[in-house]
Amino acid sequence: MSIRKPPPPRLLLNNVSCMRNASQVLSNVNVSLHDGGALVLTGANGSGKSTFMRMLAGFSRPSAGEILWNGHDIQKSTIFHQYKLQLNWVCLKHGINEKSTVLDNVELFELLDYKRGKAKLALQLMGLGRLAKEKPKMLSMGQRKRLQLARLLAIDRPIWLLDEPSVALDDEGVKLLEYIIAEHRKQGGIVIVATHLPIEIEDAMLLRLPPRFPRRMTLIDMLDRADIS
Ligand SMILES: Nc1ncnc2c1ncn2[C@@H]1O[C@H](COP(=O)(O)OP(=O)(O)OP(=O)(O)O)[C@@H](O)[C@H]1O
Ligand SMILES: [Mg+2]
Repeated sequence: MSIRKPPPPRLLLNNVSCMRNASQVLSNVNVSLHDGGALVLTGANGSGKSTFMRMLAGFSRPSAGEILWNGHDIQKSTIFHQYKLQLNWVCLKHGINEKSTVLDNVELFELLDYKRGKAKLALQLMGLGRLAKEKPKMLSMGQRKRLQLARLLAIDRPIWLLDEPSVALDDEGVKLLEYIIAEHRKQGGIVIVATHLPIEIEDAMLLRLPPRFPRRMTLIDMLDRADIS
């Protein structure tokens, strides 16, 4: 009887460290994600969540360790070229073109994949259908975030890197976000979320990054210590 080997993880971080401006931000991170997997990153301000995302997106290189996609090091240029086509990304900087319409902002994203046709539906699903012809200056903060989420739906990229995706969303927006994450995972997609806000993602792996520096006294500590009773 032959025993089947389990498939290797789609994405593997092997003892990864990362520096920023000559100082160590991430140390010896180990993460393994299979298709359909999810990772939720938490940690104090400055603990390295966005650095982690930037590194996975290829903007920073690990200072030690390796990031393997399908068993291959993403630092190799031929691999990176294929790997980056797997990624879709949401971060606090919206990357919204103010001169284009809301619809154009999604369609421009579609062009990255040389595809067209999903933008209107994606906007409708995010509750922005009626604003499609407006300029982004007409959007509220939460609507801007919904526009970013519509861009996730417009193109088929299996790995979603979501840095604070629920900031500014109302309750319905958060539910929509949770829903599209769950659907993406059902289709084998991988989702990595950095967040301070609670988010429901079934069976997600949790990684809490330690604070980078011993914490100094903050105003909250001072208020706690003050005898105000
Ligand atoms: N552009 C930069 N150049 C150099 N160092 C940076 C830069 N941006 C952030 N850092 C440093 O990297 C560390 C990690 O920052 P990062 O943005 O990854 O934290 P974070 O966990 O995402 O924080 P937050 O919860 O505030 O979003 C911080 O301590 C910060 O000082
Ligand atoms: Mg951050």
